[in-house]
Amino acid sequence: EPRNEDYIKARIRTVPDWPQPGVQFRDITPLLQDPKTFRVLVDTFVHRYMDQKLDVVAGVDARGFILGAVVAYELNLGFVPIRKKGKLPFATVAEEYELEYGSATVEIHCDACHAGDRVLLIDDLVATGGTMIAAAKLLTRIGATVVEAAAIVDLPELGGSKLVIEQGIPLYTICDFA
Ligand code: PRP
Ligand code: HPA
Repeated sequence: EPRNEDYIKARIRTVPDWPQPGVQFRDITPLLQDPKTFRVLVDTFVHRYMDQKLDVVAGVDARGFILGAVVAYELNLGFVPIRKKGKLPFATVAEEYELEYGSATVEIHCDACHAGDRVLLIDDLVATGGTMIAAAKLLTRIGATVVEAAAIVDLPELGGSKLVIEQGIPLYTICDFA
């Protein structure tokens, strides 16, 4: 029996030169498409968090929604979306972060958590770490505590996971691609 981590890593597809030449894009869609793999993936997160005291799961637009909502459901918790700018209808809090070229903004509803809520933050992948750090800042600003940030994939050469940890945010990733 292979370890879940190896089973999952082996099923991530690498697409060369997408979205631009020189990038090796780590594509998680095969993990979602195959029912056994999707179950192993979700169960890996659920097993890690089922005995933790958590109040809510937050997921990052858009790939973090796919995973985050299912993990929340299995943990009997609610789900909070952290969205790209301009998508949330009620009062929001926003964080801007730097991209390779330009910047991006993520938002959360100001009432998405109660003060002191213990949150699991989920996305699919950590590259530069900008998205995960901005998402964690939003949760902190609305009074929640990020118990852990979790993703399927870390790209350690881009330095993001190191930055996340340096910000004091515990980070769990299932596998990495150096
Ligand atoms: C990707 C990925 C993470 C983020 C990681 O999302 O799903 O959210 O980038 O990069 P970072 O660590 O450098 O911030 P993307 O912005 O491509 O959006 P999508 O989920 O809508 O495809
Ligand atoms: N795969 C998926 N998403 C990404 C990547 C990648 O290699 N780099 C930045 N976001």
